[in-house]
Amino acid sequence: MSRYFSLADMPDMTGKTVVVTGATMGLGYHSARVFASHGARVLVHGRTAEKAGKAVEQLQAETGSEELVAVHGDLSSLDSVKKLANAISKATKRIDVLMLNAGVAGLDFELSQDGIEMHMAVNYVAHFYLFKKLEHTLKVSKARVVSVSSGAAASTCHAGGVPLSLEAWNNKAEYNELRSYGDSKLANILFTKYVAEHYGSAGIVATVVDPGVVWTALNARAAGSSMFSMFLRNVAWFFSSKPEEAVLTQIFASVSPRVENGTSWQLVCLPWDVRGKTQGEGAALLWKMTEKVLREKGFA
Ligand SMILES: NC(=O)c1ccc[n+]([C@@H]2O[C@H](COP(=O)([O-])OP(=O)(O)OC[C@H]3O[C@@H](n4cnc5c(N)ncnc54)[C@H](OP(=O)(O)O)[C@@H]3O)[C@@H](O)[C@H]2O)c1
Repeated sequence: MSRYFSLADMPDMTGKTVVVTGATMGLGYHSARVFASHGARVLVHGRTAEKAGKAVEQLQAETGSEELVAVHGDLSSLDSVKKLANAISKATKRIDVLMLNAGVAGLDFELSQDGIEMHMAVNYVAHFYLFKKLEHTLKVSKARVVSVSSGAAASTCHAGGVPLSLEAWNNKAEYNELRSYGDSKLANILFTKYVAEHYGSAGIVATVVDPGVVWTALNARAAGSSMFSMFLRNVAWFFSSKPEEAVLTQIFASVSPRVENGTSWQLVCLPWDVRGKTQGEGAALLWKMTEKVLREKGFA
């Protein structure tokens, strides 16, 4: 088996069903395009019906696939995530790959509709809740759950790891957008660790990737006033790869037989060492805390 991975290694995905969040642009859109052009049925998630529908039209035109389904939901609203999960469950009884890709970065302090700091709400809590709502389908499908994290998970999060209280996430006085983004992306890794440990016996394979620095709207839309946002808006392009190339890491994680439960990847198919951030009880404590937040918000 080749140590490298390219589109030439893509298996035929006819008969497989894939869900991609944030598939209207950037890495999500390019993921959906690769899956669709290799025969998969793809549930293309967008924030609104209009955005998801437009992406489906564009993907149809580019791939010729008739197996594209638009689903929508605003990930900054748990009620909307619940409706999204219901729509996905209606559209398919099987999910072979759940790609948790949608994300925001570089935002000034803002709370979601449910009162959760926006990076944590969209990048982590919404995906956690979506996973929980789809848990049964994922188990019966023995699905692969691919979380799209970031190098920021290791470099910019709180020194002690993701804080374990909503008050700390929402602490406006000490807010730092780079740190909140890093925390949300570390939460993606800890989520993967927990899913791997607790759902692996049910056949779910959880994996997490760092796509590297990629020139997408994520950078251009970083609206915050910090150096981090200024870097994303103005300088990141210089170091960035193109999304159609960078997408290979999350595609590899979705389909390669080399990907085992609980593994992490970067630079397409190189192991990403996240052990320094995943020792101890952090994953279990964060999982419990997130369940508590969901219960308190009325979304158990
Ligand atoms: N680009 C990079 O350098 C880089 C580096 C490391 C990790 N990543 C990660 O890669 C993933 C994809 O990022 P990208 O660079 O492809 O970004 P992107 O081009 O900005 O795409 C982000 C996607 O997420 C969706 N999204 C954002 N907020 C949403 C919400 N509230 N509800 C529903 N959908 C929402 C966007 O839809 P709308 O158009 O409706 O906003 C869009 O489809 C993210 O998780 C990001 O953290 C990116």
